[in-house]
Amino acid sequence: MDLNEYMATCIAQVERELNRLLPAEDVIPTTIHKAMRYSIFAGGKRLRPILCMAAARACGGQEENALIPACAVEAMHTYSLIHDDLPGMDNDDLRRGKPTNHKVFGEGIAILAGDALLTEAFAILALVRPVPLYSVRDFIAELAAAGGSRQLIGGQTLDLEGEHKQLNKNELQAIHLGKTAALFTTSLRLGGMTANAAPEHLDALTRFGTHLGLAFQVVDDILDITATTQELGKTVGKDIAAEKSTYPHLLGLDGAREEANRLTQAAREALNDLPADHVEPLSLLTSFLLDRTH
Ligand code: IPE
Ligand code: IPE
Ligand code: MG
Ligand code: MG
Ligand code: MG
Repeated sequence: MDLNEYMATCIAQVERELNRLLPAEDVIPTTIHKAMRYSIFAGGKRLRPILCMAAARACGGQEENALIPACAVEAMHTYSLIHDDLPGMDNDDLRRGKPTNHKVFGEGIAILAGDALLTEAFAILALVRPVPLYSVRDFIAELAAAGGSRQLIGGQTLDLEGEHKQLNKNELQAIHLGKTAALFTTSLRLGGMTANAAPEHLDALTRFGTHLGLAFQVVDDILDITATTQELGKTVGKDIAAEKSTYPHLLGLDGAREEANRLTQAAREALNDLPADHVEPLSLLTSFLLDRTH
């Protein structure tokens, strides 16, 4: 199968659905709805929605049935980026190839646009169709756990507190598990849940997502050093400037690449615990994410 075609199809479906679900730009107060739409339609890679949809397929379901959770995770992810870029956090001017939300709308509206997208994530997920094994409450609880202070926010907290410090590998991994791997894992699990996946298959998705998410963040840290601002659509060199703890900083570029390879291999192994018939999109995505240049 052609992965690019597969991804393009998923992206088109997710974007159509997000457009349908989010308040239109002319809904009052128009500023906030413009700000929310500005960031969510700025051209992200949509990896979490694609993982969600591909996991539904891997568990014997259909991509279309995972669209609601796919949109919910993208709304949560986009909120986390808007806030991550704020002056009080990473203070970035460029995101998804465009000026950051606060650069266009001001800090106050950017904070509110993030808050609104986070809230929309749950409003959207509440529309999910329950399946025999998983109630709407199970879906909501899954996303809430990933986004909360033990996971995504916890990772972002440790990331900020880790600036100007020399962290060890375990401390660094704790940051990556929270700020990146948690939402990867939950995207996959929510997709699997729409397919009424057996608990052992959700466990396999958890192992897959944890390693894939960790590998993804190691590659993000490598690209911050090796890629261009043009390629990434965000300003490169920011981790060094902020004295962030990263794998390249700890292990060097070659060591970080080895770590990304090792984590990707571990992710691949977890896929063996899923039914083999429909696992190809997830398997191709695993290599794609390791080799990405943006
Ligand atoms: C950026 O995520 C934030 C990290 C967790 C490293 P992505 O690289 O998936 O960003 P978009 O969605 O494509 O903009
Ligand atoms: C951001 O990590 C993770 C979240 C937004 C939760 P980074 O700070 O490394 O992401 P970029 O490099 O700004 O995209
Ligand atoms: Mg950050
Ligand atoms: Mg950042
Ligand atoms: Mg980064």
